[in-house]
Amino acid sequence: MRCMRILRESEMPRYREHLLRLDAKDRRMRFGSSLDNAGIEAHVQHLRERADRILALLDEFGRVVAAVHIALLEAAAAELGVTVDRRWRGRGVGRAVFEQALSWLRCRGIRRVFLVFLSENRAMRTLARAFGMSIQNDAGEMTAEMTLPLPTPFSVLWELIVEYAGLWPTSLRLAEGDRVFVLQPGIQPSVQPAV
Ligand SMILES: CC(C)(COP(=O)(O)OP(=O)(O)OC[C@H]1O[C@@H](n2cnc3c(N)ncnc32)[C@H](O)[C@@H]1OP(=O)(O)O)[C@@H](O)C(=O)NCCC(=O)NCCS
Repeated sequence: MRCMRILRESEMPRYREHLLRLDAKDRRMRFGSSLDNAGIEAHVQHLRERADRILALLDEFGRVVAAVHIALLEAAAAELGVTVDRRWRGRGVGRAVFEQALSWLRCRGIRRVFLVFLSENRAMRTLARAFGMSIQNDAGEMTAEMTLPLPTPFSVLWELIVEYAGLWPTSLRLAEGDRVFVLQPGIQPSVQPAV
């Protein structure tokens, strides 16, 4: 079954596989430089040693096909890094995992959220704008920032249901041409053109 949830420590190799599937351009977009495979291994090893979390979308084979790296910072803040497998892009998956990460953070009282990305990353800029983040451009590197609302009983309940039941959020919508529909288990990812 497909689901979106925080990965367990023992599942980090699935995240590593997801990152290793990124091509050189994607790695540059994600990390600001074209990390080689050894760099990716070191990155994953490093985050295993920290309190960071990976919110992942897993396909029916348990592969991580999209993820948000949630790096917890001091003073109730977090920096996020989003990645989506190429075959799953352009269908609202990036938006869905990002939205779910915000919900996860809000539930835990984390208020400040940051994204850092290259100015040429139009998808990420669109995503940041869609969530009302304020964006600053510093010599080709963009920093987007937002303050999350305080949690409410409903937002906490929703987050707990999604996280512990591993439910597929109904907010995950896939656009196909002009049609937008809620994802159903039978729908397969399409082959997307290069972003
Ligand atoms: C950035 C990334 C996560 C987006 O994933 P995705 O699943 O394609 O995103 P979505 O389909 O949810 O699209 C998000 C928005 O960006 C827009 N978008 C997507 N690709 C775009 C592109 N190439 N150019 C401009 N806008 C684009 C979409 O139209 C959508 O906006 P809308 O909701 O107003 O229509 C994905 O391209 C990726 O993994 N890139 C490599 C890693 C990376 O750049 N990470 C960001 C570093 S923090």
